[in-house]
Amino acid sequence: MADILLDHDTLLERDKKLLHPQQHPASHSDPLIIDSGEGVWIKTVDGRKFLDGLAGLWNVNVGFGRKELADAAHAQMVKIAYSNNYAGMSNVPAIELANKLAGFAYPSLNTTYFTAGGGEANESAFKTARYYWKRRGMPTKVKIIARIDAYHGLTMATMSATGMSKFWTMFEPRVPDFLHIPAPNPYRYKGDQRPGESVGQAAARALEEAILREGPETVAALIAEPVQGAGGVIVPPEDYFPLVREICDRHQVLLIADEVITGFGRTGEWFALNRYGIEPDILSFAKGVTSGYVPLGGIQVSDRIREEIFTANPQNAWLHGFTYSGHATACAVGLKNIEIIEREGLVDNAARMGEQLRTGLETLKEFPNVDNVRGLGLLCGIEFVKDRDSREPDDDFCAQIWKASRAKGLLVRNIGATLAFSPPLVISADEVDYVVNTLREAIAEVTASPAG
Ligand SMILES: Cc1ncc(COP(=O)(O)O)c(C=O)c1O
Repeated sequence: MADILLDHDTLLERDKKLLHPQQHPASHSDPLIIDSGEGVWIKTVDGRKFLDGLAGLWNVNVGFGRKELADAAHAQMVKIAYSNNYAGMSNVPAIELANKLAGFAYPSLNTTYFTAGGGEANESAFKTARYYWKRRGMPTKVKIIARIDAYHGLTMATMSATGMSKFWTMFEPRVPDFLHIPAPNPYRYKGDQRPGESVGQAAARALEEAILREGPETVAALIAEPVQGAGGVIVPPEDYFPLVREICDRHQVLLIADEVITGFGRTGEWFALNRYGIEPDILSFAKGVTSGYVPLGGIQVSDRIREEIFTANPQNAWLHGFTYSGHATACAVGLKNIEIIEREGLVDNAARMGEQLRTGLETLKEFPNVDNVRGLGLLCGIEFVKDRDSREPDDDFCAQIWKASRAKGLLVRNIGATLAFSPPLVISADEVDYVVNTLREAIAEVTASPAG
């Protein structure tokens, strides 16, 4: 692309013609206008440099500036960028990527449907779950159970599954037949916990109670992120997901794993439910599959679902689809992206660097407002409190740390009282130290002279 000749101020003025996701005048008063990136670093048009501690939006797993991915896109575009992929036609990269992904995340998930992103993937998952039960002769199984603080996207149905009410209020009424149960948050469990019961057991019991209350004959699926990302990096206790799998099986409820963030290595596993030794029935993926270089997402369905809705009923069309499903260029980039993650051992690096990052974040407990440090691989959070005894969340303090970190060249995300980290998986030991040291300076500065 030709160099941008416009200066920062002119671009800022021109940016007013552009509507941004979740735009708000206050949060967009001083946007960073990004110009380029390399590894974990990004630069703005006015020459500022930042370590992108969120890897774009939890997605740039292989880091910025990968020429190989540009070359893969270029080669495919020159051949043919896009072709109709609806029934009756196919293309080579989509076939190759679906084959690469067969059994890749979980052994029983061998069939892939591609979308352009995570919201479309979850929409596809909900529709597939409902259709599956119709084919099984149980058409009343339509409800989707999700968890409080879940994030599954912002289309009408995925917004209704998302478990944060701030995303609903402007657009209600929500789509019916979506309900929410408590998140398995070991640090702040908000459900009912009986004496002697672990948080994992209590949260799993909340699922079973919800299924029984609604009637198992009305429930199609549970959708769950293995680690709740945008809801505050909530890592479930180890006993939670095995119990969830048992409960879903007991009541004939499908388990949809929303691995839009956790997929493709972020947690130090290729896919996060492997950690708990269970498989979902449907997997949603997006961000990490192309590391954000081009939009791509999708679902994978279990062999059982495939058999029921496709193989056993060849006379029935599956009337679901998007123009960009199986986009040839996007799939070519996806294939190359997975090759890079494999070749460079980035999943192992995520596990190792994640460990170093959490160890570093733990040292910040020298400050009285720092409390819970949590995470899996390179998906981490640190929570700020007014004091450790009350554990009262300190959202304002967290917002100030976010701002001070940004001024010092570190981009992270503040979610309430939690600061979230999900840097590119290529991050080095020195760069992890930079993250921790910058954060230490930011906390020291804010502690010394709190705003307001
Ligand atoms: C877990 C999860 N699911 C779904 C989505 C929605 O993806 P998209 O923004 O591509 O629609 C996101 C986006 O951040 C996500 O974090």
